Amino acid sequence: MTWNPQSWRNKTAAHQPAWPDPSELERVEKELASVPPLVFAGEARDLKSKLAAVSRGEAFLLQAGDCAESFDGFNAVAIREKLRVILQMAVVLTYSSGVPAVKVGRIAGQFAKPRSSPTETVNGTELPSFLGHMVNDLPFSEGDRKPEPNRLLKAYNQSASTLNLLRAFTKGGFADLHRVQSWNQEFVSSSNQGQRYNQLAEEIDRALRFMEATGVSSQHSEIHEAELFTSHEALILQYEEALTRNDSLTNEWYDCSAHMLWIGERTRQLDGAHVEFLRGVKNPLGCKVGPTATVDEITALCEVLNPEREEGRLTLITRMGAETVGKNLPPLLEAVAESGHPVVWACDPMHGNTFTSETGHKTRHFDDVLAEVAGFFDAHHGAGTWPGGIHIELTGEDVTECLGGSEEVQTKDLGKRYETMCDPRLNGRQALDLAFRVAELVKPVKTTD
Ligand code: PEP
Ligand code: CO
Repeated sequence: MTWNPQSWRNKTAAHQPAWPDPSELERVEKELASVPPLVFAGEARDLKSKLAAVSRGEAFLLQAGDCAESFDGFNAVAIREKLRVILQMAVVLTYSSGVPAVKVGRIAGQFAKPRSSPTETVNGTELPSFLGHMVNDLPFSEGDRKPEPNRLLKAYNQSASTLNLLRAFTKGGFADLHRVQSWNQEFVSSSNQGQRYNQLAEEIDRALRFMEATGVSSQHSEIHEAELFTSHEALILQYEEALTRNDSLTNEWYDCSAHMLWIGERTRQLDGAHVEFLRGVKNPLGCKVGPTATVDEITALCEVLNPEREEGRLTLITRMGAETVGKNLPPLLEAVAESGHPVVWACDPMHGNTFTSETGHKTRHFDDVLAEVAGFFDAHHGAGTWPGGIHIELTGEDVTECLGGSEEVQTKDLGKRYETMCDPRLNGRQALDLAFRVAELVKPVKTTD
């Protein structure tokens, strides 16, 4: 039962690439072990305390970003636009829920993907599946699909520049609440659903003007700055181990590749390497929970990943599908509540609602995404638990990957701008549609009763 950063190596790691040259991988691991950490332990602890507030029903989690980040088209505008949408959504969610929104990006490290099959066959040729830019490349050729350890270093470097820019944007004036609100007003005035969203946007405006008039705004950095934490699926354990450092302040281990790490639906085996590795690092953790998860599995995962029952340590990210959330979620909510484990419950309404369109695109419909969030809220209201947050795949750009939304993206539009490296993402306007629609579902927290 003793843990160390290598103890996962004695277990089976699912969904790993077949690295053709282990000595090359080892060389890269050594190099990564000596580079500076991307985040500090103290920041991970700060996020944990904010997630602790979510677990108590005193805050709301917004976790969002790409399905898979890309080495191509890596530029400041794409990062800025993603951040902008997250900030805009957060304002809407904060106002409607009456509690702070804790913002966590699927960003600065989200480069590795588990796939349903390790290989892909096209016209009789079988090659390794694309596993994300941390591992190989998307085009279907032998050279592109070969797992390449140097990509771990490139992922680290791109994460470092992304994080650097995010820190500059969030602290350097870009995230000022007044600006974010004016972007929201632009969105509302140009939206087909403008009428529907206008009241909320106006109320936020009045609240801001009131704070301005009373002089509160100028005294609080929260108005002018924002805080965005980073997260990714901890899939490639050599990368995670190499960036794991002992915190000199507490003598505890932190995976300094991101503030928060999550375990995917396909790698949450209790006796597997991913659970083994993550149980030992002190970061806040997420774990995906799909429709086949049993009460026993999930309560056992809570025990293994959070034996000390620390608030903010574990976020269970449920991704059931719009059709099944009403049936599958309530028993889990009940069992975890009964076990006394303090978890954050977040809803990933993306991964249970994917299908292939007639045009051959992997897509999701906005209405299904919204329906799963609504089912999630219903289940929590029924169980008396706090619907703690949402976990969304989005981009700031004007892509056409998901159907529906107030701009009503149709099947015939999907080919126009379908750019995702992996799963279909809500575009900027669909993401804002979702925030305004979720705002209608969130019951403001009552401070007195
Ligand atoms: C993901 O979040 O991109 C993902 C692969 O999700 P899941 O593990 O829930 O399938
Ligand atoms: Co995805």
